[in-house]
Amino acid sequence: MADDSWDRDNLAWWEERVELHLGSDLYDLTSFRSGRSSLFPYELEELGEVGGKDLLHLQCHVGLDTISWARLGARATGLDYSAGAVAAARRLADEDGVSAEFIVASVAEAPAVLDRQFDIVYTGKGALSWLPDLRSWAGVVNHLLRPGGLLYLVESHPLVDCMGKTPDFELDYVDPEESVWDEPGDYAVPDAATKSNRTHERVHPLGEVVTCLAGEGMGVRLLHERSEIFFARFPQLVADGPGVWRLPSGWPRLPLSYSLLAQKG
Ligand SMILES: C[S@@+](CC[C@H](N)C(=O)[O-])C[C@H]1O[C@@H](n2cnc3c(N)ncnc32)[C@H](O)[C@@H]1O
Repeated sequence: MADDSWDRDNLAWWEERVELHLGSDLYDLTSFRSGRSSLFPYELEELGEVGGKDLLHLQCHVGLDTISWARLGARATGLDYSAGAVAAARRLADEDGVSAEFIVASVAEAPAVLDRQFDIVYTGKGALSWLPDLRSWAGVVNHLLRPGGLLYLVESHPLVDCMGKTPDFELDYVDPEESVWDEPGDYAVPDAATKSNRTHERVHPLGEVVTCLAGEGMGVRLLHERSEIFFARFPQLVADGPGVWRLPSGWPRLPLSYSLLAQKG
């Protein structure tokens, strides 16, 4: 069971990093403002048409993916517990001229603050490891979806989450415990001299993700393990297009991320 320090430390960590991310190469706001989508082609293919659909983006951060879905015609709502991230997302949406709503709330609070259901819940790209309890998360997702609604998740692969700064295993994959870190900088700006550095995270193995969704009666329609990841997780990785990193040739094709589509019954 996570204590109060889980949310307190993590929220302070995220609030301090919002401005850093807005100026970072990884988030690349210059090209985003010129129309670059932050979504990968496989996301559009796997989720399918979003035009006219009600889409909720849980843990939306500064809203790039939320805005990208809205540009494709989704009625998009982004939710994040970082007030700084939500303020940035609102500014970016206003500048863009796209219609998207952003709400400050935790995932746990989402059912109470949102008084409606959605056709699609979208989340991931570094979201699940910040949640201590995936059964509660699956309950929230199921609650927020209309019958027949879809969850679409893109995440770093939990095997990668078990590794340290290089592709060597450091953490348990089976029955993982909370891990506490205390390091400056982060995945987008590694050299930043940050002050709020303590984080609490948990690896969520694929079996846990699928079993928690099945426990809510949701059916998995697709689980695709991918040899690419959306940030430079290890120094060994090579860039392969905007926002895409892979192991160099000569390495086995290990899973670095995954996408999952599940449907509410
Ligand atoms: C890496 S970001 C999500 C990925 C996003 N696609 C991006 O732009 O990078 C993780 C987000 O989760 C949010 N977050 C972490 N724990 C949360 C919680 N319990 N409830 C709501 N938001 C949370 C953080 O504030 C942060 O904005």
